[in-house]
Amino acid sequence: MTRLPANEARVAVLSGDGVGPEVTHEAVRALRAAATRAGLGLTLEHGLLGGAAIEETGVPLPDDTLALCEASDALLVGAVGGPRWDGLPADRNPGPGGLLRLRRDLDLFANLRPASTLVPEASPLRVPTVDILLVREAVGGLYFSPERGRRRDGSTEIGWDTMSYTAEQVRRIAVVAFELAAAREGRLASVDKANVLESSRLWRDVVDEVASDFPQVTLDHLYVDNCAMQLVLRPQDFDVIVTENLFGDVLSDELAGLVGSLGLLPSGSLRSDRFGLYEPVHGSAPDIAGTGAVNPAAAILSAAMMLRHSLGHDSAAADIERAVASVLRRGTRTPDLAGAGPAVSTSSFGDAVVAEIERHPAAEAS
Ligand code: NAD
Ligand code: IPM
Ligand code: MN
Repeated sequence: MTRLPANEARVAVLSGDGVGPEVTHEAVRALRAAATRAGLGLTLEHGLLGGAAIEETGVPLPDDTLALCEASDALLVGAVGGPRWDGLPADRNPGPGGLLRLRRDLDLFANLRPASTLVPEASPLRVPTVDILLVREAVGGLYFSPERGRRRDGSTEIGWDTMSYTAEQVRRIAVVAFELAAAREGRLASVDKANVLESSRLWRDVVDEVASDFPQVTLDHLYVDNCAMQLVLRPQDFDVIVTENLFGDVLSDELAGLVGSLGLLPSGSLRSDRFGLYEPVHGSAPDIAGTGAVNPAAAILSAAMMLRHSLGHDSAAADIERAVASVLRRGTRTPDLAGAGPAVSTSSFGDAVVAEIERHPAAEAS
């Protein structure tokens, strides 16, 4: 379906906790700069999520925030959580009760997490050629187990979660992944644990069924443990990966390690219409919050994903991506990527990206 670019968009900004507000601030500046050049009018409205919402309202996802999100075209999220709230029970916890509930209530099932080499010397790989799109199922699986709990049992205590998927849940994420693979290099790795788990056996059967509609895509099945190793040994052989919620959570941080920093991985969580939630893959990084040392690239690149996937402005998205790549290439780097070289602050990195967006010849609305 051809998507016409929006002329006006309403974006809800939920910057959350820890480094969330710092990286979101830079993402908003880049988003505004790119949108202005593309003739896209933006209305940005701020809402509370996570620990910040708990402090103000007592709950991690207030009704006002949910209503704001439902009335928006897209969401820009920072990060949630921190030592102050991480011990709270699930429904009052910034993660499960805030961010995960938001993904689930809005049915944002397709979590796209692209990883590509932007700073080769920051990668631990000998040959850093990473260009992988991880497609993580985001509203099912072990995270949303229908049966979970914790109880005393005689002299011990039991805690349990269950991994369950319906065929429909697997089918819709598989279709998204095949479509994306067909538009890239045509290679899809489906990752599961079908040698052990029933839910993975179903996953594999359904992915095989969907494969028959995509003869142009080469499909491989890998067990998650093997995949974790193959990603280190031969990342260049991967194009698109599709996997279950928890496996995707773990593998996406591995991808971040392969490209050198969590500060480089953006994400977008989509449903079947244009609506999406855009956020860096990293968390609230309490160890560096407030020091000006956090890398805002992942958040800025998430804003680019929003322009492409929700707002239909491909060239404005490309403007941001080009600007981030070129700023990094010139050696403007936050401490996570600076190595022995000089490091810049979060806001200086953001300044450089905005200047680069504005320097480039104006993009045509796409
Ligand atoms: P984390 O991603 O916050 O940090 C892991 C490590 O990576 C830390 O050393 C941190 O300083 C570093 N790091 C992360 N992002 C960085 C960036 N942009 N630039 C430079 N360095 C960066 O994960 P964690 O420490 O396991 O969790 C901290 C808190 O964040 C917890 O409360 C956790 O629940 C939460 N969390 C939230 C999200 C989210 O909101 N999407 C994701 C992961 C973790
Ligand atoms: C992520 C995060 C979240 C997740 C947490 C904060 C609930 O780790 O987006 O990767 O596990 O999905
Ligand atoms: Mn994670």
